[in-house]
Amino acid sequence: MQQLGIKGSVSDSLLLVGEDFKQYKKYLPNKQIIVIIDNKVNKLYGEYFSDYQIIEIGQTENIKNIDSVSSILEQLLSYKADRSTFVLAVGGGIVCDIAGFVASIYLRGIDFAFISTTLLSQVDASVGGKNGVNFLGFKNMLGVFNQPKFVICDPKMLETLDVEDLNCGFAEIVKHTLVADANMFSYLENNSSKALSLDSQVIEKLVFNSVNIKADIVNRDEKEKGERRKLNLGHTFGHAVEKTLKLAHGNAVSIGLVVAAKLSLNRGLLSEKDYNRIITLLKALDLPVSIDSDKEAIISALDMDKKREGNAIHFVLMEGIGKVRIEEISLDELKAVEL
Ligand SMILES: NC(=O)c1ccc[n+]([C@@H]2O[C@H](COP(=O)([O-])OP(=O)(O)OC[C@H]3O[C@@H](n4cnc5c(N)ncnc54)[C@H](O)[C@@H]3O)[C@@H](O)[C@H]2O)c1
Ligand SMILES: [Zn+2]
Repeated sequence: MQQLGIKGSVSDSLLLVGEDFKQYKKYLPNKQIIVIIDNKVNKLYGEYFSDYQIIEIGQTENIKNIDSVSSILEQLLSYKADRSTFVLAVGGGIVCDIAGFVASIYLRGIDFAFISTTLLSQVDASVGGKNGVNFLGFKNMLGVFNQPKFVICDPKMLETLDVEDLNCGFAEIVKHTLVADANMFSYLENNSSKALSLDSQVIEKLVFNSVNIKADIVNRDEKEKGERRKLNLGHTFGHAVEKTLKLAHGNAVSIGLVVAAKLSLNRGLLSEKDYNRIITLLKALDLPVSIDSDKEAIISALDMDKKREGNAIHFVLMEGIGKVRIEEISLDELKAVEL
């Protein structure tokens, strides 16, 4: 097991990577505990949390909204939760995002922690202190910056994940290596099949390095004023793909990474050799590298994106593997990229 401390502006967080989730009680305070969990995770792991009051929520991005927040707040009230109550979220990014938000606004904020049960939430959602919900169709429109007291990332829990949910996490891991860690990229190239078969040593290393990279950037720029924007690599185009083609987040990010790599290649920032390594790695991890639908609709979906300014878009580009920079890209340059 490896631990990592994260300094937040309001409070600190402790990441426990490789911890057996069944040991969670030793990290809990001696207070009223309320568990927030989705119905699928509850079916799979609920028996381990039966000592506590449970608030069960649904699944999918559609429930990450203010109605769910309102319903959870009502249940907290009915359980007579007070300022000393502790919320434990058990689930993927959706459960953690909603529960972190609810805990942060209930009575102006009560303590909370996560048992992060998807690869995506272990490597991404559980680090960085962003909690929030969608509003009127806008993603993560309402939210707060606030750190969980602790996050448990147990690789064993990933064994019950559907393949598509697993893939989402790998796309974020590739992103982290491209942003900041060329050695980790090589490690992933050499261990992609072990990673796919969830070899726990490989997964623990990948998760720990990934959270380390994200934590390092977040520690320097918690509120996303500069450095943290590098983590948007693959996400500008990726979000538009996700919205337009209704692809899973990780698959959309994979396409977004390919577009960023191609733009970087076209600008002479990335060598052809490194470009090919990126494509090969994404494929080895069963992630998509092309789409067969019209790019126009995706590009027009970008228009709504908050990153767009005038006729240019801020894009995170790659300067080789392990280093990125933010540059302005014109719409014409983007249209010229072949997918
Ligand atoms: N806060 C952040 O910084 C941040 C970062 C990245 C993503 N996110 C958010 O995270 C969300 C996506 O997270 P996600 O991909 O974890 O989705 P998710 O929470 O919907 O989980 C995906 C699916 O896996 C199931 N599941 C969870 N754990 C399981 C397990 N151990 N075994 C079997 N099934 C399991 C869930 O029930 C769900 O059906 C998005 O809403 C995104 O905006 C937040
Ligand atoms: Zn993402």
